[in-house]
Amino acid sequence: MKKWLLPLSLLILNQPAVAESLNPFKHGDANAGKALVNQHCIQCHASRLGGDGSAIYTRATRIVTSSTKLSSQIRNCNTMLDLKWFEDEELNVAKYLNETYYKFSE
Ligand code: HEC
Repeated sequence: MKKWLLPLSLLILNQPAVAESLNPFKHGDANAGKALVNQHCIQCHASRLGGDGSAIYTRATRIVTSSTKLSSQIRNCNTMLDLKWFEDEELNVAKYLNETYYKFSE
């Protein structure tokens, strides 16, 4: 085996494992979460903050500052909007928002 191949393959093999173990919402499905957010959440955020609505998650004064707060914010929205999401749907949305914007590792 070429000398550089082993470290390279270890690097590639290790990355997802590390990312997964640090992901507080690892059992969620980010693609499913993205579809839910696109359908139910973006429009209102965009109408208030302009752009594609993502500024609400990245603004300096954001209210979500931990993975626990992200979960409870999603739960509140779910209840307030009467979406009747199941827990796994909330988890999917949490995984998507965390991976894309918040990036909490625990
Ligand atoms: C009717 C309008 C509306 C809809 C629909 C809506 N939101 Fe929001 N959302 C808001 C507003 C307004 C805020 C800012 C609240 C504040 O600043 O106190 C917010 C804030 C948030 C935040 C916190 C952002 C931060 O500061 O870190 C998250 C996360 C969030 N919404 C998720 C969702 C999700 C998930 C949905 C879809 C289920 C959703 N929202 C649907 C109006 C809406």
